[in-house]
Amino acid sequence: SMLRTLARRTSTAGTRRGFASESAPDRKVAILGAAGGIGQPLSLLMKLNPLVSRLALYDIAGTPGVAADVSHINTRSEILGYAGEEQLGKALEGADVVIIPAGVPRKPGMTRDDLFNINAGIVKSLCTAIAKYCPHALVNVISNPVNSTVPIASEVFKKAGTYDEKRLFGVTTLDVVRAKTFYAGKAKVNVADVIVPVVGGHAGVTILPLFSQATPSANLSSEEIEALTKRTQDGGTEVVEAKAGKGSATLSMAYAGAIFADCLLEWDLNGVPGCLYSCHSYSQLVTEPAISLHPRLRFGKNGVEEVLGLGALSDYEKEGLEALKPELKSSIEKGIKFANA
Ligand code: NAI
Repeated sequence: SMLRTLARRTSTAGTRRGFASESAPDRKVAILGAAGGIGQPLSLLMKLNPLVSRLALYDIAGTPGVAADVSHINTRSEILGYAGEEQLGKALEGADVVIIPAGVPRKPGMTRDDLFNINAGIVKSLCTAIAKYCPHALVNVISNPVNSTVPIASEVFKKAGTYDEKRLFGVTTLDVVRAKTFYAGKAKVNVADVIVPVVGGHAGVTILPLFSQATPSANLSSEEIEALTKRTQDGGTEVVEAKAGKGSATLSMAYAGAIFADCLLEWDLNGVPGCLYSCHSYSQLVTEPAISLHPRLRFGKNGVEEVLGLGALSDYEKEGLEALKPELKSSIEKGIKFANA
């Protein structure tokens, strides 16, 4: 339904010429890692979003080509390409939303935590620049391991005095996207109508889909629920193995990143209600991992306006929640330790 909305808005912007530039306020979105496997299709999808007026594409290399290519698409936003660290400040200046898909992806046999050594440093340095050049931006972290990179971002912002828990997100929307798709297939319901809250973190068992709360409801057996839960938790690995060394999810991740960013823009600009997505918010994560990664958030002018609770859990989900806490906690601590080292 998000894509339909996107398509409708795109065509509206096209037919009513000047619609976007005349009435929609200026919004700058920056994508860091824009030349990568996720970055390229994400750049494409954000170029289709008429709520964006300027789209800054940054990477250490390769962005001039991506920017030239995407800039020929006849939609509202102006495309700005930046390559190399010396251009990072320009890419970030004035950004309202920053999306970070920079860093190395998994290969078969790797866990997300295996990426820590490379990606932790990348996220730390990018967030240091964000604190300097666009301290009020809504920051969406995609780089894995998300369970550690969000705490790193948070620590960097705290040190810089720019931290706002309502404006920092770990993008776990892909887990929701997967849970919805897999549930619709099993329950034989229209995928466009499906809602499945997903809580916890973004790695293996820390991903906890709450199929007991899924709608439209269906009479699935406990074996079926277990299989759906495992498939959601291993969804990323399913793609990594299918790509056989050529990376991890990029297209579905770009979609997830684009609808999450669209949700933030909608709220920020138009106060449109009803956009409820799963994502990390770090502050509760430290104090109480159980409710840290909100099943559903409402966004408003200042980012998160309301956190909806976990709701009633099945016994299977309660077990899953207890089981994920130690891993989530240690991933968070690993991020904090790195950021402060
Ligand atoms: P990729 O290797 O295709 O692209 C990464 C891009 O980041 C490259 O263009 C690279 O030049 C760039 N980059 C590296 N260091 C940089 C820096 N300091 N500043 C700016 N750009 C930099 O990788 P892919 O497939 O796009 O994945 C990116 C990240 O997203 C990985 O960490 C992956 O694990 C993560 N991911 C997260 C998901 C989620 O659900 N949150 C889902 C899938 C992937």
